[in-house]
Amino acid sequence: MSTRKLIWIVGALIVFALTLGAQEQPKTTIKHVPIKATSAASGQEMYKTYCAVCHGTDGKGGGPAAEALKTPPTDLTMLSKNNGGHYPSMKVAATLRGEANLPAHGSKDMPVWGKLFWSMSGGHEAEVQQRVTNLNSYIESLQAK
Ligand code: HEC
Repeated sequence: MSTRKLIWIVGALIVFALTLGAQEQPKTTIKHVPIKATSAASGQEMYKTYCAVCHGTDGKGGGPAAEALKTPPTDLTMLSKNNGGHYPSMKVAATLRGEANLPAHGSKDMPVWGKLFWSMSGGHEAEVQQRVTNLNSYIESLQAK
C-alpha cells in the first residue's frame, strides 16, 4: 500500500473518532479536514497537526474538539508538575505507542498513534521512534515551570 493511501486511512480514523464524540454532544460542531502528512523531524509540526485539536495549541487541553469528547483531554503542560517535577517521558512514549493503560487513547476517542505512525512510515521502526521522540521533546518544552 502506498504511503499516501495510508495517510488517508489515518485521516479517516481521526475524523471517525471526532464524529463519535460530536454525536454525544451536538453543541460542538467539528469540521472535518483531511489529515496532513508531517515531517517526523518536527515535534511541533506533528503536535499542531495531530494533537492540538484536542489538547489545544498550548497543550492545556482546550482544543476545539475537547468539549465533544467524553473524557477531557489531559492538560499536557502539567505532566511534570503532576509527576513530582520530573517530565514522565517514558509514560508519554508508552501512551503514544498505545502501551499505556489509558482508556481514551486507542479506544473510541482516538486511535493509537504508534500504530498510525507505523503505517505512515511504511513500517519503518526508526521513523516511528523519531516521531515519538520528537513529539515527546516538544511536549516536554510545553511544561509549566
Ligand atoms: C481526539 C482527541 C485527542 C487527540 C487528537 C489527541 N489526544 Fe491525547 N488525550 C486525549 C484524551 C481524551 C486524553 C485523556 C485520556 C484519559 O484520561 O483516559 C488524552 C491523554 C493524553 C496523554 C496522557 C497524559 C497522561 O495523563 O499521562 C498524552 C501524553 C497525550 N494525550 C498525548 C497526545 C499526543 C502527543 C497527541 C498527538 C499525537 C494526542 N494526545 C492527540 C485526547 C486526544
